[in-house]
Amino acid sequence: PSDTGRILSIQSHTVQGYVGNKSAVFPLQLLGYDVDPINSVQFSNHTGYPSFKGQVLNGQQLWDLIEGLEGNDLLFYTHLLTGYIGSESFLNAVLQVVSKLRSKNPELTYVCDPVMGDEGKLYVPQELVSVYREKVVPVASMLTPNQFEAELLTGFKIKSEGDGREACRFLHAAGPSKVIITSINIDGNLLLIGSHQKEKGEPPRQFKIVIPKIPAYFTGTGDLMTALLLGWSNKYPDNMEIAAELAVSSLQAVLHRTLSDYKSVGHDAESTSLEIRLIQSQDDIRSPQVKLKAELY
Ligand code: ATP
Ligand code: PLP
Ligand code: MG
Ligand code: NA
Ligand code: MG
Repeated sequence: PSDTGRILSIQSHTVQGYVGNKSAVFPLQLLGYDVDPINSVQFSNHTGYPSFKGQVLNGQQLWDLIEGLEGNDLLFYTHLLTGYIGSESFLNAVLQVVSKLRSKNPELTYVCDPVMGDEGKLYVPQELVSVYREKVVPVASMLTPNQFEAELLTGFKIKSEGDGREACRFLHAAGPSKVIITSINIDGNLLLIGSHQKEKGEPPRQFKIVIPKIPAYFTGTGDLMTALLLGWSNKYPDNMEIAAELAVSSLQAVLHRTLSDYKSVGHDAESTSLEIRLIQSQDDIRSPQVKLKAELY
């Protein structure tokens, strides 16, 4: 494994619970990274609860923080990580951040989770879709859409593994050399499809991991997944299958612990979304036991 790095992570913050930066920063620190969080929102709790309160950072306020760092020559990053972004103006400011960081480090890896929706439902303003397609995908190094987001970015439906692999090829042609469709719902299982194009124009190396679906609904898992994929793929830059196996195995351990902890206090796990037991899972994050294996195509 190669060295770790310094990550700028622009994501949501919640006072209580684990989504956005709250689910990404701690695991990346455990994996040995310096992580500098910018909180794109600060909410009391995630938006799946009956109510929430808090503040939203705007594009200018994001840029102020970047200028503050630049003023002290503190803008050297090996990685930029972004997740849920709620407005077009903030997404455009993030694009400016990408250019600025690349001007300081041309080798910057930009890991983008193009969070737009799930299971057929869009949960960002419609106008963000074309910005992701036209401006963000071309500058991303690694992209982690779910099935619905991959459909939005490619314009075609994903109904089979073959469609998923085709979507990855389409996205490579648009920019990123690493694409992971983090979850495709097929036959009651979740399928992860990974694709790594080592040279532009070459056929990518592709694999899948079949993940048995746990009958519960979790939040923060997409954000944790992308963070773990960044963490491990940087340690195994030429072996995305291993990186994905490690990331998936940690995540599944977190989810199984979460489910059993909720059940042990008599909570009905199928009725509400569960806050992941992240802190309690630190050993599974540092040294995951690989139980789900990648299958190369
Ligand atoms: P995005 O962040 O782009 O919305 P996503 O929709 O893939 O991505 P999640 O639905 O949170 O995000 O899933 C991320 C990962 O979490 C999946 O790859 C899977 O490993 C795991 N996961 C989430 N829910 C379950 C579940 N009920 N059973 C098993 N694994 C799950
Ligand atoms: N960020 C915020 C502010 C949220 O409210 C939520 C979920 O409600 C998420 C992120 C969820 O992310 P994930 O897709 O990782 O479950
Ligand atoms: Mg999902
Ligand atoms: Na995803
Ligand atoms: Mg998500």
